[in-house]
Amino acid sequence: MDGNVGLQTRRGNAVPRGVATAYPVFADRAENAELWDVEGRRYVDFAGGIAVLNTGHRHPKVMAAVQAQMDRFTHTSFQVIAYEPYIALAERLNALAPGDHPKKTILLTTGAEAVENAVKIARVATGRRGVIAFAGGFHGRTLLTMGLTGKVAPYKAGMGPFPTDIYHAPFPNALHGVSIEDSLAAINTIFKADIEPEQVAAIIIEPVTGEGGFYQAPFEFLVELRKLCDRHGILLIADEIQTGFGRTGKMFAIEHSGVVPDMITVAKSLAGGFPLSGVIGKADIMDAVPPGGLGGTYGGNPVACAAALAVLDVIEEEGLLQRSLDIGDRLTGRLKGLAARTTTRCISEVRGLGGMVAIEFASGRSHARSGSHQVTHRQVSGKRLGRSVLRSLRQCDPYPGAADRRRRGDRRGTGYPGKIPTRLGRTNCGLIWSREPCQHTHAVRLQPANCEHPKRHDQGKEERHEKIISTIDNGGDCRCRRYVA
Ligand SMILES: Cc1ncc(COP(=O)(O)O)c(C=O)c1O
Repeated sequence: MDGNVGLQTRRGNAVPRGVATAYPVFADRAENAELWDVEGRRYVDFAGGIAVLNTGHRHPKVMAAVQAQMDRFTHTSFQVIAYEPYIALAERLNALAPGDHPKKTILLTTGAEAVENAVKIARVATGRRGVIAFAGGFHGRTLLTMGLTGKVAPYKAGMGPFPTDIYHAPFPNALHGVSIEDSLAAINTIFKADIEPEQVAAIIIEPVTGEGGFYQAPFEFLVELRKLCDRHGILLIADEIQTGFGRTGKMFAIEHSGVVPDMITVAKSLAGGFPLSGVIGKADIMDAVPPGGLGGTYGGNPVACAAALAVLDVIEEEGLLQRSLDIGDRLTGRLKGLAARTTTRCISEVRGLGGMVAIEFASGRSHARSGSHQVTHRQVSGKRLGRSVLRSLRQCDPYPGAADRRRRGDRRGTGYPGKIPTRLGRTNCGLIWSREPCQHTHAVRLQPANCEHPKRHDQGKEERHEKIISTIDNGGDCRCRRYVA
């Protein structure tokens, strides 16, 4: 098989650049919190496949369940021939979701598909058309979910027009000067300026924004939203695709607030790496759509259902909700200590709900812009952080192992992203590179969006940095692409 560089070349020739990949290393195998690339380097996987691996890579119990299902059958399409694992999983999710009303669950494949279906169900159940979402929120990459997503670059730019009857209100964010009252007032303005509340089918919110920077919706705000929805007959949808299945120390993040939503969208860590998503909702709402109106060829694939049932067992048996709280406490405690010791006051906030922790950096006196980029532990450790470019540290640690390794400072393995470059340099578009005279990956680019042909790129550094570990999609024609091996 080709090495990383060879595969990167083949990838460039065969795969469109719009599918950005964070690291120019190629996976060979993975186990629990670790991953090996095709050249045999070992990494601690802090990304967990974008918050998908709360139970780690290839948990033995999940693998055994998957194997057993594969030995029986792998696909029939639930709409043609149904099967027990789908029903068992729906029963389990109905029991786990907050609220003591009867619930039903539809299973699908991707997070975006779950959100699309929640909106379809809400529209049919209410007979209304409007949907209100929040600025900074992320709900997926299909047309409807892009429309709901409250972030233009890089998700929506140039891809309109989007479906109509979608409205955005500001997400309450005290750090950036948006109070709960501001957000509620903005929703009232939407009711006055754009659409009457009697035509709004649903309000969709992430209890903690994922892609948006790990901002937690204040509990009082969620309570007020619930009241507002009840007052106007609007359905409240909690998008728990990123926050679900133990990430915040409860099975669903909204449980922290005591608010019971009408529907919950789930995906990611539900099935420990297998593509599976779902909508859990009040039974009467879920039954509003007549037969044939919901589904999909692959929705609720039996192998993925078997994996999900095992994942739920593992979360329970291994006490992963408590573990998330413990990791969160440890991490926020350490980061707050770091913030207190930082004389430059460059850390504007350390925040977290359970293990979903972010650290936000400020530039001078002003806070870093809202939104987030995924960054590695090392980036945060590096002395020279780009001005206004690094917003939050996302912790997508797979359980168990990654956090423990980090705590122990285990840096074995040449490719461990936690290895801190001793000499860092920075281009003016935020590329951080290392001058370490070794072949390893010590460069990270932090600023993607609007790089204007960085001057300091032309200093002949490419030769020394042929393996750059990070590429956040710059969504444009940024010249620092050539640094990517
Ligand atoms: C909150 C939220 N909703 C929806 C999605 C879309 O999920 P998918 O990428 O599986 O379509 C994501 C993905 O990151 C997400 O974080």
